[in-house]
Amino acid sequence: MRALRGTVSVPGDKSISHRAIIIGALARGETEIINFLPGDDCLSTARAARALGVEVHVDGDRAVVIGRGMDALREPEDVLDAGNSGTTMRLMAGVLAGSPFFSVLTGDKSLRRRPMGRVIEPLCTMGAQITGRCGNAYAPLAIKGGGLRGKEYVSPVASAQVKSAVLLAGLFAEGWTAVVEPAQSRDHTERMLRYFGARVEVDGRRIAVLGRPELRGKKITVPGDISSAVFFIVAGVTVPDADITINNVGINPTRTGALEVLQRMGADITYVNTREVNGEPVADIRVRSSELTGTEIGGDIIPRLIDELPVLAVAAAHARGTTVVRDARELRYKETDRIAAVVDMLCKMGARVEERADGFVVHGGQRLQGTTCDSRGDHRMVMAAAVAGLTAKGETIIEGTDCIKVSYPGFFRTLYYLCVQ
Ligand code: S3P
Repeated sequence: MRALRGTVSVPGDKSISHRAIIIGALARGETEIINFLPGDDCLSTARAARALGVEVHVDGDRAVVIGRGMDALREPEDVLDAGNSGTTMRLMAGVLAGSPFFSVLTGDKSLRRRPMGRVIEPLCTMGAQITGRCGNAYAPLAIKGGGLRGKEYVSPVASAQVKSAVLLAGLFAEGWTAVVEPAQSRDHTERMLRYFGARVEVDGRRIAVLGRPELRGKKITVPGDISSAVFFIVAGVTVPDADITINNVGINPTRTGALEVLQRMGADITYVNTREVNGEPVADIRVRSSELTGTEIGGDIIPRLIDELPVLAVAAAHARGTTVVRDARELRYKETDRIAAVVDMLCKMGARVEERADGFVVHGGQRLQGTTCDSRGDHRMVMAAAVAGLTAKGETIIEGTDCIKVSYPGFFRTLYYLCVQ
C-alpha cells in the first residue's frame, strides 16, 4: 500500500449548498453561490426551486439564484421530485407549507421509505394541510400551504431537517416561530437566515425566527464539506506514513463531532489557518497516520457526527480495543439503514462487529480483508468501503458506486491523486 500524501480540497458543503438555493429563492435579488456542490441532491433542490418559478442557473460549482421574494413563488405545474435527497424534501416541505397553493413532493424508492411524519406533524400544527402515504408517514406528500400561524414546536428528534422545515415555514407565518430541539443539530439554516437579514434568536436549544422578513440576495462562498473531507481524514489516520492536508473545510462546531472523536482516539489532526467565511468557520485540516484506541460514542455528540458514523466505524476497526456507538438509531433512517450496512460491510471484511438497536460495537485491531461490498445505493457507504479497502489485504470491489454523485462525484479521482503523490 502506498502512503497517502498531498494537499487536496473537497467540494462545497451539501447542507449549505441546499440552503443557499432555498433561502436565495425566498430573497429578493441575486444570490451568487461560489463553490456550490453540483451533486445530484443539490441539483434536485435547484430543480424544485425552478419549478416554483425561481430563476436558478448552475454552471459547475457556481450557481446564481434570482429571487423575487417569498410571495412570488408560484404553484408548480407538476410533481416535484426530490430524488434521493431528504434535505430537499423536508426543507422544501417547509417552504411549500407556507405557500398558498397546492403541490406534491416525491422522491426515489429510498426517499419514499424515509420518515416524513416528523415534518408533516409540526407543519400541520402551524396550519398547513399535508397528507402522505401510509397514514401521513411517507412521501409522496400532497401539500396545501398558506395561512400559517407562528408556533413553538418541541421536536422529539435532533434533526436539522425538521428544525429547518419549521423555521422556513415560520418565515411565512405572522409573529415568531420557535423550535426546541433535544440536542444541538447543525445550525446552517439559522446562520444563513441571519446572513440574509432575518431576525433569528437562539436561547440554548430554542431557536426562534420572526415571520415576514425582508430577505436580500447575497453572495455566498460555500466551505468544503466536512462530511466529504472526513473520508480522507480517516484514510490519512489509518494508512501508514500518510500526511494529507485538506484545504478550506467548514468546521462549524455542529459538524465537527467526528474530528473530536478521532482526536480522542489518538488521531493526529490539526486545524491550520482558521477563519470565518459568510458566518461559517473554515480551516485547512492536516492529518497524519496515527495509532488509534477504541472509544465510546453516544449522547449529544451523535447529531454532530451522524453522517460520519460509517467511516468512523472503519477507523474503529483499526483501533486497539472496543468502540461502542449508541443513541444512533437515526442511522437506520438515512439513505439506507446505515447500522445494518456498516455491520454487514465490516463483518464481510473480517472485522468483529456486533449490531445493536441504536448503534454497533466494533472490536478493533484486526487487519481487514478485501471483499466485494454492496453500496446499497448509499453514497457514504461507497466512500466508507473505499477507505476500508485502502488498508485491507487483497482487493476490495465496491458494487453500485453510481450513487456517489449524490454528494461527491469526483471522490475517486481525488483519492487516486493522493495515492500517486
Ligand atoms: C442534514 C441533516 C441531517 C443529515 C443530512 C443533512 C441537513 O439529517 O444527516 O445528511 O442538511 O439538514 P437529519 O436532519 O435527518 O438528522
